[in-house]
Amino acid sequence: MKLWGGRFENSESKLMEDFNSSLSFDKTLYHEDIIGSIAHVKMLEKCHILDKDDVNKIIEGLNAILIDIENGKLEINGDYEDIHSFVEVNLIDRIGDAGKKMHTARSRNDQVALDMRLYSKNMAKEVVENLHELLKTIKKIGEENNYIMPGYTHMQRAQVVTFKHHMMAYFSMFTRDVARIENAMEIMDFSPLGCCALAGTTYKTDRKYTASELGFSGVADNFLDGVSDRDYLIELMSDFSMIMMHLSRLSEELIIWSTKEFDFIQISDEFSTGSSIMPQKKNPDAAELIRGKTGRVYGSLMSLLTTMKGIPLAYNKDMQEDKECFFNALNTSLSCIKVMNGMLGTIKVKKESMLKAVKHGFLNATEAADYLVNKGMAFRDAHGVIGEIVLKCESDNKSIEELTIDDLKGFSKLFGEDIYEFIDYENTLSRGIKKEMK
Ligand code: ARG
Repeated sequence: MKLWGGRFENSESKLMEDFNSSLSFDKTLYHEDIIGSIAHVKMLEKCHILDKDDVNKIIEGLNAILIDIENGKLEINGDYEDIHSFVEVNLIDRIGDAGKKMHTARSRNDQVALDMRLYSKNMAKEVVENLHELLKTIKKIGEENNYIMPGYTHMQRAQVVTFKHHMMAYFSMFTRDVARIENAMEIMDFSPLGCCALAGTTYKTDRKYTASELGFSGVADNFLDGVSDRDYLIELMSDFSMIMMHLSRLSEELIIWSTKEFDFIQISDEFSTGSSIMPQKKNPDAAELIRGKTGRVYGSLMSLLTTMKGIPLAYNKDMQEDKECFFNALNTSLSCIKVMNGMLGTIKVKKESMLKAVKHGFLNATEAADYLVNKGMAFRDAHGVIGEIVLKCESDNKSIEELTIDDLKGFSKLFGEDIYEFIDYENTLSRGIKKEMK
């Protein structure tokens, strides 16, 4: 069932029909398609292009289709080219000739561009809401477990930090992700409806009216761009990719921390799985899947960037390829944010294990060098002295604070009894700019 055919002599091959159809995936847009059409025909009436009777019939018919889809009476399938054809053919079946007037002064090119904008804008809001939930969890888990832990560079123990400070690094990342999506939503907030196929229309329509009916802040500046712009999908997918990169880094840390080798956290049973052969195993599958699914979201972004790069203006059918990759990236990102929120909210943080790792990692070596600097030694020399001390400690299997004052004085006469208080791990956190870590 097609919306075209008059100029054709032969019917389309079945192979081509299946290849061309987008209904199996663009049915996701049924709601946007129907509310977009309602706004369009209201405008046509306001501009005296359609009469009131026809418009009322169309709106009633569209609302009935919407209700039937939502309560399961009308299933979206069949040999329609896309969701736009499905709705229009169904409307004509229900209300007859009035339905044939709905598509006046509109093309499927501006219609699909409208549907995708409405849908992606709405879903972007949902992503932001879920990010806010994740931010709350990150803050809570950090505040409830404000213990000292080793901070790492090169995956080697480096200096003392707090678990809260570590968590709040992710808080900063996801806060930037929220700002990025909100910015994308602002840039995309212009309606393409009324651009028609590519060149506007000779009817005196009112694009501003439909834009405001549908909640946009304005209309597209240019007809050709209005129908062929998919930047906003690419921009959102780039934001989703950034979110996934952040989720993947956090997943990686949760996986490492939950190993017996680290033992800093325990992932709850609710977000772990077992092994079919090794009875002792408890695997961090949720975190691994998030890390793994990151590739899929990056792939979707690359896919649409590549699709768009060689397309001349204005609409070309290549653009139908925007949907599956966008829906995939969106749904994957949304589910990963939700799963991360659930998993993170139920981890157990192991204060004692982290403290043990702090004590055996020379995490106060930098502060010990600072001590000598305070006593008048140049930092580079202090660095050398503490390096020698660490070497000795390693061979004696001791930490710096376990050396006696006489041992220390053997390396530099500048050491006094106050060194022990100075390099105490908790104390190092409460001095200078480090206080901000608390
Ligand atoms: N299914 C099409 C898409 O998603 C709708 C627009 C079709 N326009 C056309 N001129 N054939 O892009």
